[in-house]
Amino acid sequence: MALAFDEFGRPFVIIKEQDQKVRLRGLDAQKANIASGMAVSRILRTSLGPKGMDKMLQSPDGDVTITNDGATILEQMDVDNQIAKLLVELSRSQDYEIGDGTTGVVVLAGALLEQAQKLLERGVHPIRVAEGYETASRIAVEHLEKIAQKFDFGVNNIEPLVQTCMTTLSSKIVNRCKRSLAEISVKAVLAVADLERKDVNLDLIKVEGKVGGKLEDTELIYGIVVDKEMSHPQMPKQIEDAKIAILTCPFEPPKPKTKHKVDIDTVEKFQTLRKQEQQYFDNMVQKCKGVGATLVICQWGFDDEANHLLMHRNLPAVRWVGGVELELIAIATGGRIVPRFEELTPEKLGKAGLVQEKAFGTTKDRMLYVEHCANSRAVTIFIRGGNKMMIEETKRSIHDALCVARNLIRNNSIVYGGGSSEISCSISVEAAADRYPGVEQYAIRAFADALDSVPMSLAENSGLQPIETLSAVKSQQIKENNPYCGIDCNDAGTNDMREQNVFETLIGKQQQILLATQDHLFRAFSSFFLFFVSNDSARMSKCDGTGNISCQQANGVCTRWLLRNARTPLFRAARSICIFQFPFMDRVMQVWFGVIIYGSWTLSALMLDSFVVSLGGWSDKENYYTFRDKI
Ligand SMILES: Nc1ncnc2c1ncn2[C@@H]1O[C@H](COP(=O)(O)OP(=O)(O)OP(=O)(O)O)[C@@H](O)[C@H]1O
Ligand SMILES: [Mg+2]
Repeated sequence: MALAFDEFGRPFVIIKEQDQKVRLRGLDAQKANIASGMAVSRILRTSLGPKGMDKMLQSPDGDVTITNDGATILEQMDVDNQIAKLLVELSRSQDYEIGDGTTGVVVLAGALLEQAQKLLERGVHPIRVAEGYETASRIAVEHLEKIAQKFDFGVNNIEPLVQTCMTTLSSKIVNRCKRSLAEISVKAVLAVADLERKDVNLDLIKVEGKVGGKLEDTELIYGIVVDKEMSHPQMPKQIEDAKIAILTCPFEPPKPKTKHKVDIDTVEKFQTLRKQEQQYFDNMVQKCKGVGATLVICQWGFDDEANHLLMHRNLPAVRWVGGVELELIAIATGGRIVPRFEELTPEKLGKAGLVQEKAFGTTKDRMLYVEHCANSRAVTIFIRGGNKMMIEETKRSIHDALCVARNLIRNNSIVYGGGSSEISCSISVEAAADRYPGVEQYAIRAFADALDSVPMSLAENSGLQPIETLSAVKSQQIKENNPYCGIDCNDAGTNDMREQNVFETLIGKQQQILLATQDHLFRAFSSFFLFFVSNDSARMSKCDGTGNISCQQANGVCTRWLLRNARTPLFRAARSICIFQFPFMDRVMQVWFGVIIYGSWTLSALMLDSFVVSLGGWSDKENYYTFRDKI
């Protein structure tokens, strides 16, 4: 192995005897892909659940992130392998859709891959595995609905929402304050929620953090907090009944777009220029005061001259406020963002009951609070904490809690956590497997085994014996017919998750199962097609139980070849087999015709899972499926 550098100075490794490497094919390639997917999931396994460990990740430029959030861990990992990347995307989709459960989805997908490997080794075709998994996931999702419970909540009864958010927060580093943070998250979501339409716009919740203080000092502000201070230290620190001009134009003299040169050779000329400049500032300040503004919030900076003038004219101002904050302030105060001084009118001013600048402790850090706004639908969660990493992790945890509260407002069904719903699904999937006569049965059972991986990981991470604990809980669920028994991670003395108040949202859990089973992960292993052109008159009819296909009239060359090779790796790897038959044409014509039709059907074959085309002759669909089952 040697280290070399490319033309940009980036190092790369040259491995000796690279040409001796061989491309993996068939089962070996599938196994290699599965191994890389499992490696990713193994990394996340240890951070699942309330006793799961956090991960410390270092970025290439030395930044350190400490987190328990699955999506963040995977986002920060530099994953190269394509299958592993699919897992990263899986977790990202869960994060986008649901917000929580990003670790669980990868653990489940990893377990499904592990089980798939065993099936592939036993000769089951990947498509059969994928189909079996699909069936099993449908059963599991339906079962979840059966064991789910609905609860009522209202603006005066937020306890159920708080309890569910607490379950989400209990697996995070912030769990010592989970009660207060859960309450803050629920109140924030309810403040911006439209309960009639069951819609929550999370963009209206701003999560802001500042190093210093304690986690317990985290608060919810019905208004906006911006990390800015008044532009001049002598400006008033508190403004009541503020009328706010929200500007995106700078307090500066206009700059001509063309190149220009000003010659100042006399004192008079300088005086005139200075006066003119002052006049500009004066006009600007006057325009703001003229419409009745008592506070100016500006996206850009001010000239010192303007700043001085603003202070003098008793018009407090804040500068360099970011675009997002500006927008939130405009929403909260009911004001309009004004791009030119000429366009300022009294109606465009935002209104807030109280704007104040607050200082924290002995630090000189100040922040601006805009409270009692005209439109109180924008709120801020202001996080305090000992260091930046803690604040960032708290932001991520609060994001999870906010998403959970939002999901509950959309759909108020919950299932119980601690692995109880997974165990219950596993039992029901296992029982359903017997109803399927085909090879899928094995895949469905494998799915049930994979579902056990979540409670097993929870037990393992809590220092319990995974297999013993799981089997005890499983038998208890069956014996007591109680789907709420889970893993007692916190040693609370009972494993009934109803008593422990461990709730999760139904849609979150369903999404986890559906995403983890996402087809492309498994179908990716078998992705090419075979096609045949034939004028044989054979009729494929019988497939005996041993997997041999017998033909009544195997007289055509193509059919015989097909039968001879049905068990070869080529056939096993094919995603679908297309058979064209044109008994009325000669061979050359058939090939051309076949190529044209094949081209046009490949696209549809990519969409449909498999198909068979037969123009006259023997190959009807049923036989094809039986045939496919056997190979
Ligand atoms: N007090 C508890 N007792 C038992 N199990 C719990 C408890 N609190 C949470 N859990 C379980 O822990 C799991 C959630 O763990 P965690 O929050 O680490 O992962 P995640 O939600 O899948 O992903 P992330 O939160 O990173 O997006 C769920 O299965 C949940 O039921
Ligand atoms: Mg979680």
